[in-house]
Amino acid sequence: MERTFVMVKPDGVKRGLIGSIVTRFEQKGFLLIAMKLMSIDRTLAERHYGEHREKPFFGELVDFLTSGQVCAMVWEGPNAIANARGLIGSTNPAEASPGTIRADFALDISSNIVHGSDSLESAQREIGLFFDGAQPPGLLFRA
Ligand code: CMP
Repeated sequence: MERTFVMVKPDGVKRGLIGSIVTRFEQKGFLLIAMKLMSIDRTLAERHYGEHREKPFFGELVDFLTSGQVCAMVWEGPNAIANARGLIGSTNPAEASPGTIRADFALDISSNIVHGSDSLESAQREIGLFFDGAQPPGLLFRA
């Protein structure tokens, strides 16, 4: 079993899409391990997206992520990282396959509704960043 970090970004929260996104993960068969609605500060946003620090859109990305609440989640399942990215779809909604979250709910690469970890290392790092490194069984996690 594998765990991955998934985050509904401020555009998804503002548009009332948390329920639709959670439903898709549940329908696929993932197990919800942890979930919290939260505001994130610039330090956390910059650490989360550290690999994009040199990209021209980095400032815009941090502004966007700190513009409203996000819903941070940990989901578990076989090949959870790749399977979650399959559900989420390509980074650019214009290139995402129909039926994926980004294809169905988003139009713009900078407001693409949801984030999913892209590797085992990223998943472990991102879960640690958003859930204080807590490991099951912990307060935030199902035993
Ligand atoms: P995400 O999967 O959360 O990871 C990095 C994010 O950077 C990505 O989703 C996009 O929202 C954003 N991003 C990637 N490329 C661009 C771009 N060219 N312009 C603006 N934002 C981008």
